[in-house]
Amino acid sequence: MKVTVVGAGAVGATCADNIARKQLCSELVILDIKEGVAEGKAMDLMQTSQIEGFDTKIVGSTNDYSKTAGSDVCVVTSGLPRKPGMTREELIGINAGIVKTVTQNLLQHSPNTILIIISNPMDTMTYLTLKSSGLPKNRVIGMGGALDSARFRYYLSQALGCSSNDLQASVIGGHGDTTMIPLTRLATYMGMPVSNFADADTLKKVASDTMVGGATLTGLLGTSAWYAPGAAGAFLVESILRDEKRVVPCCVSLDGEYGQKDICLGVPVVIGRNGWEKIIDYKLNEEEQATFNKSADAVRNMNNVLSTLSL
Ligand code: 2OP
Repeated sequence: MKVTVVGAGAVGATCADNIARKQLCSELVILDIKEGVAEGKAMDLMQTSQIEGFDTKIVGSTNDYSKTAGSDVCVVTSGLPRKPGMTREELIGINAGIVKTVTQNLLQHSPNTILIIISNPMDTMTYLTLKSSGLPKNRVIGMGGALDSARFRYYLSQALGCSSNDLQASVIGGHGDTTMIPLTRLATYMGMPVSNFADADTLKKVASDTMVGGATLTGLLGTSAWYAPGAAGAFLVESILRDEKRVVPCCVSLDGEYGQKDICLGVPVVIGRNGWEKIIDYKLNEEEQATFNKSADAVRNMNNVLSTLSL
């Protein structure tokens, strides 16, 4: 198996590190446009192989896409990250051109690959990738919901004083501070509703902390987070390459599911060897569906910006 990670910044390098430690593939390519950086990170990671006990061959490449040829999965992290006070949406003008070029280059050398999009604004970058590549919809996956759901479980675990591994909790909708939807009603601790263990105000705060989870970290770090985004990307690679059929909220193309069409938005999907294989219907209540529709409207407005850019 072969995986490519485009972007050797903090998110891309962390994603590559997780992929290598989990021994998900025999070859891992890290590609970046900055001269020498991908090669340097690849060499640094290779020097952890004896310590970590993996034998994945990691190759760095300065913008030479021929090295990525035959990749089963490609993870796209390219583009600018958020600065404090900046929304993910503000990155659209800069990152759209980058993501389009990167995905075109990748597909030239790996026409059968599955693409995982991490670059922001993630929902619009996933939509752009799907439309500009003409790929079957199952092979284009936006990572946002996997990360946001992990953050939701983190905040829930803090509030309940429990292990995040004993929680089931999903965030659907867009990957934006105001568009994501932590589904508190459906969140469970060992199969029981979390409302059995925390009061409504606490759960409201958990949801709002989750929604600004990325912004909180950007404020603390001075740039966007990388450990959880990188790990979430690798988690999807794992479920694909090992055909695990994990159910993960991801940004995928909707064709009437959840009442939406012609949009890529976060919903729970089964992730396996064919990419995203099935959408799970959570049967939202009226209020949740109305929030989902509002989230879709906001993401659609952002997608409309694409037609004003010269891509
Ligand atoms: C985040 O939420 C990078 O969008 C990513 O941290």
